[in-house]
Amino acid sequence: MTNPTNSPSHIAIIMDGNGRWAKERGLKRTAGHEEGAKVVREITTHCSDLGIKYLTLYAFSTENWTRPKIEVEFLMKLLERYFKSELAIYLENNVKFKAIGDLSKFSKKLQKVIQDTQEKTQHCTGLTQILALNYGSRDEITRAIKKVNEQNLEITEENINNNLDTAGIDDVDILIRTSGEVRVSNYMLWQIAYAEMFFTKSYWPEFTKIELDDILSDFKKRERRFGGI
Ligand code: IPE
Ligand code: IPE
Ligand code: MG
Repeated sequence: MTNPTNSPSHIAIIMDGNGRWAKERGLKRTAGHEEGAKVVREITTHCSDLGIKYLTLYAFSTENWTRPKIEVEFLMKLLERYFKSELAIYLENNVKFKAIGDLSKFSKKLQKVIQDTQEKTQHCTGLTQILALNYGSRDEITRAIKKVNEQNLEITEENINNNLDTAGIDDVDILIRTSGEVRVSNYMLWQIAYAEMFFTKSYWPEFTKIELDDILSDFKKRERRFGGI
């Protein structure tokens, strides 16, 4: 049944396939990450234009440290460059930036750039773009439960929810994973409890706003029951 009023508040994306995109074109994997960063900007500004409230992008997982050192180092440098170039774009589009994940594992320099970007976009009232950085859902839930304990609070869903990195942010309505893989890879396990899922064949560097628009119109046709009838 079509439900035209069914517009999502929170879209979460597992941006996957950068390496394969590059390899298939005879390029180094890093070229795929470089291209992927451009798509982050395109999709973020599109979501901002559409009036979406939250866009959460999986940029680096707690498991991605196991990749070759050279790739990890490239990704860290790319993040630093990304924040430097994106600040103006965030401000131009009234986009508030927020990071989730355990940032303490990053270099002091990168932590500072992340912190500065959060502060400088704090006043923005449009889209909130959330980047999941050294993010793992199991790690996030474990940290949340520790925080609940430290406050001598009862272990309840509400108290856990309020101590997640995503505290105060609506649950995920749409989860998208690019690149043809059909798995969630430790991403927002708590927040996707009732998300509608979409898996695209396209690799992240070739994902377009047209494809996102198609997903959004498909989403409107889905009937969400949340356990009811
Ligand atoms: C996603 O692309 C980006 C990160 C995980 C940082 P991948 O790097 O996982 O690309 P594939 O999946 O190997 O093609
Ligand atoms: C998930 O992709 C993490 C990010 C997109 C940052 P991976 O490429 O790391 O996931 P797996 O290893 O295919 O499950
Ligand atoms: Mg991958």
